[in-house]
Amino acid sequence: MQSGKLSIDPAFVVAPVNRRVFGSFVEHMGRCVYGGIFEPDHPASDDDGFRTDVLALVREQGVTAVRYPGGNFVSGYRWEDGVGPVESRPTRLDPAWRTIESNAFGLNEFVKWTRKADVEPIMAMNLGTRGLQEAIDLLEYANHPQGTALSDARIEHGAKEPHGVRMWCLGNEMDGPWQLGHKTAEEYGRLAAETARAMRQFDADLELVACGSSGRSMPTFGAWEATVLEHAYDVVDYVSAHAYYQLEGDDVAGFLASSVDMDRFIREVVATADHVGAKLSSSKRIDIAFDEWNVWYVRELQSSGMPEDWTPAPRLSEDAYTALDAVVVGSLLITLLRHSDRVTAACQAQLVNTISAIRCEPGGPAWRQTIFHPFALTARHAQGQVLDLRVDAPTLTTAKHGEARVLDAVATVDPDEGRLAVFVVNRHPTEPIAFSTDLRGFGEVSLAQTHLIGGDDLFAVNTADAPDRVTPRPHEDATIDGTTLRAQLPPASWSLFVLQVPR
Ligand code: AHR
Repeated sequence: MQSGKLSIDPAFVVAPVNRRVFGSFVEHMGRCVYGGIFEPDHPASDDDGFRTDVLALVREQGVTAVRYPGGNFVSGYRWEDGVGPVESRPTRLDPAWRTIESNAFGLNEFVKWTRKADVEPIMAMNLGTRGLQEAIDLLEYANHPQGTALSDARIEHGAKEPHGVRMWCLGNEMDGPWQLGHKTAEEYGRLAAETARAMRQFDADLELVACGSSGRSMPTFGAWEATVLEHAYDVVDYVSAHAYYQLEGDDVAGFLASSVDMDRFIREVVATADHVGAKLSSSKRIDIAFDEWNVWYVRELQSSGMPEDWTPAPRLSEDAYTALDAVVVGSLLITLLRHSDRVTAACQAQLVNTISAIRCEPGGPAWRQTIFHPFALTARHAQGQVLDLRVDAPTLTTAKHGEARVLDAVATVDPDEGRLAVFVVNRHPTEPIAFSTDLRGFGEVSLAQTHLIGGDDLFAVNTADAPDRVTPRPHEDATIDGTTLRAQLPPASWSLFVLQVPR
């Protein structure tokens, strides 16, 4: 059997775990909002029409922040349509997803929902069909306490307290030709910079995200980030990155190596941002908001095409995730955490029904998809500091992503609680790995919990009728021998080992 070894030392700290890395995304797409978080007629809904069964799952998933309202949707959205008396709100066509938008749910409902879900709201604004004036109007409406036409309108609309939104995305995927109001890097860079500058005149402490590339394979990737940041470096805090992965045919090895691509993507964006910083002689550092990432069977949506008829909240991209998808999601989370010094915000796309960890049926149950589990476990157990560890393991060559080390891992330590969490993925599609971890630097350690996902029944899914077919199970054979943790990692599996260490 192949073997792999990790060396972990408490002295080698990458960065604190940033809770914003466990963000998610609610877009007016498919049934994410209507029939997802919001379904007034459902028996489990509260007086605001929010599904309380979904709210409970969002809390259990450990989501910390939610980006809203899009996505492609935002690039044609008029935020004013979604505020004020519901009966006066206009019904519109949403060209991004060929959907009828009732506007029954908008900014104030969203912020109220985030308070109940105990998550931070992250707002995206429309820099596709709109621009600077609408952006600062929205900011004033949302965040100014009172005494102006826009802030008083918010109060009249029932939101007495300012929403206090700190993080704002300056548009969405403006590099993509599919985006309403798609722009060149020059055009977008100028618009993002002037919008950010104006927003900072209202509030210098906002955290602003410039659109990076909507994928590493975009033909403008790299050049786009460089040009946009040359315009906006001084006035933004983040550049965004988006990545979706899927199993192509039967290339399980390539799919399991998706995190190799995400890792390269992050390193390349960091290098590009730092290059611009150097050119500008700036001591400021731009971080990455990985504000859309997930497994997404987008080809299925592309081949079925957009809905023929315009209807409200059609079923779109309701992917039923397999155990294999959950392993890949776990490994993407390992990559995001490992880069905690530069990836300081991230949003899994999306939250409910559409490309989601949580599914629910109209008038029916809500359940956890397979990908819910690695997210929830990582959000719960990744506490304290991220540690830089050494991985010694064989590699495998994949057609899609080239050479991939079969083991990938990250560890976090919470010195106050005396907890060490080791997250590890075996990316080999068919071979188990005899795995050991040298924990000598920690002193006396003991095993508190183990969790394993994948390894067998890789194409099993959770459904409304069988919601717990795929759940994490313990590692039967994990042992501690002195300061060495040992376990056998099945092929295509994600594991978490939680250890008690001296405080
Ligand atoms: O999350 C689904 C879509 O993916 C978003 O609307 C868009 O930003 C991305 O292309």
